[in-house]
Amino acid sequence: MANDNSAEHAGENKEVEKEAEYLQRELTRHSYRYHVLDDPEISDGEYDRMMARLLIIEEKYPYLSTPDSPTKRVGGPPLESFASARHSIPMLSLDNAFSDSDILYFHNRIVKSLNTDEIFYTVEPKLDGLAIELRYEQGILALATTRGDGTTGEVITENARTISTIPLRLLNLKQCGTTGAQSMTGICKPDSAGENNYVKGNCSEEAEIPEIPELLEVRGEVIINRMDFENLNRARLQKGLALFANPRNAAAGSLRQLDSKVTASRPLEIFVYGVGKVEGLEFKTHSELLHILKRLGFRINPLIEEKISIKEALSSFRKLEKIRDTLPYEIDGMVIKLDSIEYQEILGVKRRSPRWAIAYKFPAVEETTKINDIIVQVGRTGTLTPVALLEPVNIGGAIVSRATLHNEDEIKRKDIRINDTVLVIRSGDVIPKIVKVIKSKRTGDEKKFSMPDRCPVCKSYVKRIKGEAAVKCINASCPAQAKQRIKHFVSKAGFDMDGLGAKFVDQAVEKGLIYSFADLFTLEKENLLSMERMGEKSVENILYAVQSSKTISLKRFLFALGIHHTGENAAALIADKFVDLNAVIQAEPEDFESIEGIGPKTAASVHDFFSNSDNITLIDRLINYGVVIENPGKMENPGTPD
Ligand code: IVH
Repeated sequence: MANDNSAEHAGENKEVEKEAEYLQRELTRHSYRYHVLDDPEISDGEYDRMMARLLIIEEKYPYLSTPDSPTKRVGGPPLESFASARHSIPMLSLDNAFSDSDILYFHNRIVKSLNTDEIFYTVEPKLDGLAIELRYEQGILALATTRGDGTTGEVITENARTISTIPLRLLNLKQCGTTGAQSMTGICKPDSAGENNYVKGNCSEEAEIPEIPELLEVRGEVIINRMDFENLNRARLQKGLALFANPRNAAAGSLRQLDSKVTASRPLEIFVYGVGKVEGLEFKTHSELLHILKRLGFRINPLIEEKISIKEALSSFRKLEKIRDTLPYEIDGMVIKLDSIEYQEILGVKRRSPRWAIAYKFPAVEETTKINDIIVQVGRTGTLTPVALLEPVNIGGAIVSRATLHNEDEIKRKDIRINDTVLVIRSGDVIPKIVKVIKSKRTGDEKKFSMPDRCPVCKSYVKRIKGEAAVKCINASCPAQAKQRIKHFVSKAGFDMDGLGAKFVDQAVEKGLIYSFADLFTLEKENLLSMERMGEKSVENILYAVQSSKTISLKRFLFALGIHHTGENAAALIADKFVDLNAVIQAEPEDFESIEGIGPKTAASVHDFFSNSDNITLIDRLINYGVVIENPGKMENPGTPD
């Protein structure tokens, strides 16, 4: 389809026009198959080649670059500001229900008003994103707006065009039957014949193909999947940018970008659930409308259930609540809508919400509470994590009294202080997180927090490795890290103590037989015999494994120490450069950095490790217990090479 000034160019370049039209049509179809149906027909490479060709044509012949061309998905030039537009029909919100009795009250009012109990509902997940409206004129996306205050929204047309699941031009698909209670899955598979010619998948009935309506305002929710949200935030963390508090904020922030190229780079998706003004389309029920929208190329949520009783709606809610955490996107409840449009019209709307629909919300997952203190925990690998001790609060049925603060940077970024009132979020089994500080609740009693310079468990000095957010305890004899460090020490690439498996180490540490890896060399027969499932023979094997590991190459020794960022390869490179352990201990970070294959992180980490006096004491103990460190390649009379 050529654009407004196409008339004056018509017929100028017949061949090119035909090719552009073909590419636009095919790219639209393949994009729909890939993004909406999740059932691609061609490879990504093939798609990219077709797109590249279309971009070349449209650049040379701008009159062919129509607003519904798939090339518009990449975003256009940045805007100065957003224009605003009034919705033809206000975008209402929903009343909330929090219990079955709230829902039954809603239902009984409807029964009473309509004077019938032949009432059916369609239920939909309540998506936690941002509501938008898409206006299609003669089948072409002409305007997209945010909900705004419900009456007036911001014009975000360029941004909406970049969302792959939003059709730029309405499709015209055949469809399965829509009778009876059923889910929205398995409808309409397009065939490969091209030109809006789609066939049903495993359908038993065929509905009439609708005409493209002259005017259609479609409403839906723009969302970001949880995983995409995590990836987006991870990338922002690396760039030092402020993090989005949740997927909803990420979706809103991404959609309200003046530069649509930024929006194009964000993984936004849409599910549509209703309409505004419509001309040239008839439908009698909400479920029928959803099927029509599906046929027009929109993405409808697969968990929708149609034409069900209020009792079924309640059990549907419980099912949804159960699977909620397994969904790729966030939902905060279920929307229950009266299916009959005639009944909807009879009931009408209140000032801000309709009488024919209600949101049944899941119990809150966000609550505000106070931070009583901030403590620091030491993980298995020595990472210090600040944790907020909260005034206990019930969030969605669980009492929450702690929330992780991740690291010092996160605390600074969110400006979190002791005694602050904060918004806490809990979802499923995930550790509760602090979303933000409610700054308006500050009284002046708040205290800033800073990370300690010593490990709260072993009191050794901690280090923050260059380029990392985490602060670590690098003391190899820190009890918080004992199990992990000892397992690493005895492993094959380390001291290779055969028979000292993970279970043995766990039990030995738990029984207080060993606190650090140096203690392995003090193990005695009687102590070992006191352990569970430990007979004479196993004890002998263990003592033999410990004794026979005492002579070790420098590279294995360096690896066994468990220095952060120092694996087998780095340990071997370092051992190769220095005469003996003493030379390694004396070295400066530059000496390590000058080794090919050793980066600044490892160099700093090795230097920090040997600058820690607790670690030097630990090494001295090992040597006193008879550990002999050899560096075969560097010795005058090399022994057996390792
Ligand atoms: S219907 C008159 N259906 O919830 C009906 N809304 O509180 C109005 N939402 O602004 C909306 N999922 O952002 C509807 N399946 C769904 C929804 C849904 C999420 C949001 C939407 C709306 C808000 C209403």
